[in-house]
Amino acid sequence: MNAQMECTSCGSRLGITEIAYTCRECGGLLDVVYDDAPGDPEELKARFRARRLSDETADRSGVWRFRELLPFADKRHIVTLGEGNTPHWDAPRAAAYAGVDRLAVKHQGMNPTGSFKDNGMTAGVTQARALGATTVACASTGNTSASMAAYAARARMRAAVFIPDGQIALGKLSQALDYGALTLQIEGDFDVALALVRQLTDTDPIYLLNSVNPFRIEGQKTIAAELCEQRGWRVPDRIVVPGGNLGNVSALGKGFMELLDWGFIDRLPRITVVQAEGAAPFAQMVRSGATTLTEVANATTRATAIKIGAPVSWPKAMRVLEVCGGEVLTVTEAEIAEAKAVIGSDGIGCEPASATTVAGLRQLIADGLATPDENVVCVLTGHLLKDPDYTVEYHFGRLEPGAAHANAPVRVASNLDAIRIALKS
Ligand code: F0G
Repeated sequence: MNAQMECTSCGSRLGITEIAYTCRECGGLLDVVYDDAPGDPEELKARFRARRLSDETADRSGVWRFRELLPFADKRHIVTLGEGNTPHWDAPRAAAYAGVDRLAVKHQGMNPTGSFKDNGMTAGVTQARALGATTVACASTGNTSASMAAYAARARMRAAVFIPDGQIALGKLSQALDYGALTLQIEGDFDVALALVRQLTDTDPIYLLNSVNPFRIEGQKTIAAELCEQRGWRVPDRIVVPGGNLGNVSALGKGFMELLDWGFIDRLPRITVVQAEGAAPFAQMVRSGATTLTEVANATTRATAIKIGAPVSWPKAMRVLEVCGGEVLTVTEAEIAEAKAVIGSDGIGCEPASATTVAGLRQLIADGLATPDENVVCVLTGHLLKDPDYTVEYHFGRLEPGAAHANAPVRVASNLDAIRIALKS
């Protein structure tokens, strides 16, 4: 199956051995496209499932066991940490909180480096290896950098990560340091860091691994296939995702659209994107009916993963909403914090950005834009332990005074009487 890069704006094509992140003709975003459908869907579904029992490295990856869906890579180049294969769980307390009869969460935080970025990074670093890259770089609010640092280390490549100074969660920073990346704390926010790394990689022999790189999207789109597989290939009515740089919604949308085109599924889910109120350029664009995105200067939110004012992939995200149907919402800081604690109370937990999904779903139900009997999946993008400071502050009542689900530790004297009194309270 012949793979090429294609401009999503003017349709120009480029070979996949070219190093390009945007169209050389018009500057549009690129997709990886294939000339033919991958083959008989029923036969492939059986093959994808059978690979779960295989001991072969590529088969054990939740990205590469779907390799017929992203056939750009030569198996010899695959760089994998066994990513994907993430759980799909019922979340009854979160369902009751949001106001739906039942709710499933797809926990992408259960990846090797604790976020959904691993699904895309395995594909991005595999392509970097195929191209012979020796240095890779990205700007990041923390998860992309953690993931890239790990996969680059596995591939013995040099990694340079550009992070906004003092604005990323400690769990994420510690990962980039431990995996040996050159970690550049840029004086400025994510948007400044991304603009700089894009300039650098346009001229210098360094391969860019932000989600503007279409090979990242190829890996991330397999989340759609794995989700459908876990549900017996029955498509949910609605998928809810957080929106930051908008790579995730673009990837999921591409995944679902291809699965429909290629005969694996019979319909598309609606897709709801949720942004933090202080970092919501895409929501503002959609709400106003504008046809281009106006950047938000100095985006703010404690959900630092999605503290982004100039999301690169908005044209792709817009297309996904047009084809799948859907909406973009904003939620407040208090709503994010409360929803996060509720997800925790199901024994699941996530990082703040991921909790926008349950907060957004609650809003959809309250506004009558979704019905309680819908089959909904919230995609939890990052692990609870990515940002322990946030969680501790919430439960100590320092993040949101009077927080309804705060669960502060109880100080108790070192004797059983005191402990029994505490247990009764
Ligand atoms: N959730 C988490 C935990 C994230 O880390 C991100 C993005 C998103 C949601 C939003 O996804 O950007 O594809 O719309 N994190 C990027 C990073 C920006 O650098 O780690 P998106």
